[in-house]
Amino acid sequence: MRVLTGIQPSGDLHIGNYFGSIKQMVEAQSQNQTFAFIANYHAMTSVNDGKRLGELTMQCATDFLALGIDPEKSVFWVQSDVKEVLELYWTLSSFTPMGLLERAHSYKDKTAKGFATNHSLFSYPVLMAADILLFNSNVVPVGKDQIQHVEIARDIAIKFNNQYGDILTIPEFKVQEEVATVPGIDGQKMSKSYGNIVNIFGDEKSQLKTIKKIVTENVSVEEPKEYETCNVYNMAKLFLEGDNLKALQERYRRGGEGHGHFKIYLAEVMWEYFREYREKREYFEKHQNEVREILKNGADKAREIAMPTIEKIRSVSGISY
Ligand code: TYM
Repeated sequence: MRVLTGIQPSGDLHIGNYFGSIKQMVEAQSQNQTFAFIANYHAMTSVNDGKRLGELTMQCATDFLALGIDPEKSVFWVQSDVKEVLELYWTLSSFTPMGLLERAHSYKDKTAKGFATNHSLFSYPVLMAADILLFNSNVVPVGKDQIQHVEIARDIAIKFNNQYGDILTIPEFKVQEEVATVPGIDGQKMSKSYGNIVNIFGDEKSQLKTIKKIVTENVSVEEPKEYETCNVYNMAKLFLEGDNLKALQERYRRGGEGHGHFKIYLAEVMWEYFREYREKREYFEKHQNEVREILKNGADKAREIAMPTIEKIRSVSGISY
């Protein structure tokens, strides 16, 4: 089974990215052929500072490795190092009805929120389809916000295959229900573009400061509190299981503690959860040449795997003549 996923280097990685996709990917490594890449062309839709995009790409690679992407088990590369993806993007554009893109939620949300729109934001799902289809991926682990994009990739692949025969694998998305949408500090979906994230690798003080900003119900300290609807609880539960989770629920039910206490607790469990990854990150931070070498080898491997598909596509579509 081929499992593939990508992440945009458009800001610090956050706990929504981790639970929605990275963790699933790391777990998939033991039993599947796994493909993980850094979607730097996609990030161009929101990052216009070239120096910053370069830095964020290396930062994202360092984070990904620290969080457990193992280059011995996964093909791991930067999107722009396999240029064939842009070729496929163009080819697939001819199999993408305008209406399909006009219905894309993420584009509609961004326009509704007043983001400046441009063609790359509009055609974003076609590039994502190219990422997925170039590697004949079977499964794409994502958070809920990306489901529609994988469905668009399916539609495009079906249209292409109807024209040229059974060339592209029809992918499926995989979403883990309990972490499909991790809330941000304002209770909306956590998102780099909404500025409501709790990042994974911040320093302890600034993480606590962010966590203290999580929006909570205005109730007195003494009163029992509802945990199901509490943003602090909904983040804390990601890091807890079994008795520890039950104990937290009991603290909410019992009353006598304010949200400030729960926030401090959340900061502590989160800090503990990522301890080992932080240590690994320090290693890669100090060995950036090793990270570059890993990415280069990953790109070579990715291209080798993609070439037979791209050559078939060139042949059936008449581009090789
Ligand atoms: P990106 O960079 O926005 O997010 C990376 C992954 O994190 C998931 N995610 C979340 N999951 C749960 N709760 C949240 N609050 C949350 N926020 C983000 C996303 O669903 C995603 O799985 N278009 C993609 C990148 C991409 C890609 C691909 C993914 C480019 N090509 C091909 C898969 C396959 C994106 O913007 O993800």
